[in-house]
Amino acid sequence: MSQLLLLLLVLAASLAWPASCKPLPVVVPVTKDPATSLYTIPFYDGANLVVDIADPLVWSTCQRGHLPAAFPCKSDTCRLANAYPVPGCSAAGCGHDTRKDRTCTAYPYNPVTGACAAGSLVHTRFVANTTDGKNPVNQVSVRAVSACGTTKKLLVSLPRGASGVAGLAGTALALPAQVASSQKVARKFLLCLPGGGSYGDGVAIFGGGPLYLLEGQPEFTQSLEYTPLLTKKDTPAYYVTVNYIALDNSRVPLPPRALGTGGVALRTTVPYTALRGDVYRPFVAAFGKAMAAQWQYARAVKPVAPFGLCYDAGTLVNAHNGYMVPSVTLALDGGKKWTMAGVNSMVDVKLGTACLAFVEMKGVKAGDVNAPAVVVGGFQMENFVLQFDLEKKRLGFLRLPFYTPCSQFNFTRNAK
Ligand SMILES: *[C@@H]1O[C@H](CO)[C@@H](O)[C@H](O)[C@H]1NC(C)=O
Ligand SMILES: *[C@@H]1O[C@H](CO)[C@@H](O)[C@H](O)[C@H]1NC(C)=O
Repeated sequence: MSQLLLLLLVLAASLAWPASCKPLPVVVPVTKDPATSLYTIPFYDGANLVVDIADPLVWSTCQRGHLPAAFPCKSDTCRLANAYPVPGCSAAGCGHDTRKDRTCTAYPYNPVTGACAAGSLVHTRFVANTTDGKNPVNQVSVRAVSACGTTKKLLVSLPRGASGVAGLAGTALALPAQVASSQKVARKFLLCLPGGGSYGDGVAIFGGGPLYLLEGQPEFTQSLEYTPLLTKKDTPAYYVTVNYIALDNSRVPLPPRALGTGGVALRTTVPYTALRGDVYRPFVAAFGKAMAAQWQYARAVKPVAPFGLCYDAGTLVNAHNGYMVPSVTLALDGGKKWTMAGVNSMVDVKLGTACLAFVEMKGVKAGDVNAPAVVVGGFQMENFVLQFDLEKKRLGFLRLPFYTPCSQFNFTRNAK
């Protein structure tokens, strides 16, 4: 009798919580803007925001639909919104606000121009679809807090039609944490940036995998490799530890501890990976040497700024994974290797000219320990599956095979 009761209880429980009730992650397409090389996602009603994995806030220009702010100066939300003061931007929060109610001031920041402006915190909604990892499932409207700024100068140099920035840092007011708390999904997100000439949309999934790209292909997050994801006190950007850089299998000779000082940051608003001078010069020299040794017909031509090493594309061999050049490997902590073939290391700058898609960091002295040694940019992340797991503090990564680029995600809903 009691066993039957138990069975009934178990049965009732399993009926009450069918697997389909498990909260589903939230998916959006990621579009690359050819003019700026920035990536945008739709946020609501045709408003597109620039993807910035180093921004701690979601912000846009103020819209009529925004609900009035109800965040006092002293609230936790206000404190969180000002946790990472932008250098050169008015210090923080409420200092200059002499009004009696003293509502919170936040500072939207343009990652390209460095412009910032005082704004207010507002309630907004992120309208997107849930996903089973294969297709969109249901449209959802996710409650979120964003900052809104009234000055149009905040939008200078962002893609046409973009009205702000979706910050994807590991902070409480960035989009991943807000989707996680509203939708009850995991505090992680997956980024699959589009690129490689065909500008079909890539995909971002808040809550993380699974990720399927083509019928009959395996689920991709099963094959991720992991490295610890680091954060620093004064910046919301994500960092990884790179022990050395290799071209094919030989290490690039760098000054001692060059990569350790300043670390290696990841940024989606930097189009091409930037190397600090003391890393850039030996890297470019080693690449030129390896090319000359392997591809004797490859002809170097006058470099096209901002790149420092370019070739006559007609003298290079083009294959599925881009130009055949020495592969660039970032040897990550945990023994894992982020290896890039030509598609991620060479860029066609004009007809007949292809350049090594790495640039020298500007405005930084060689060996300046406060500057990152390397800032990995968008071009080097394209057609990789990157899963930022903020709970386990690790970055999962996987280079997709050339026949299943990020643009293969199926954004057509299943007919029900
Ligand atoms: C949700 O998916 C459907 C089907 O693909 C699409 O028509 C709709 O625009 C999507 N909604 C959003 C907000 O992206
Ligand atoms: C995309 O998904 C829909 C719904 O499952 C399916 O009918 C369609 O064939 C898929 N498209 C491709 C190209 O696989």
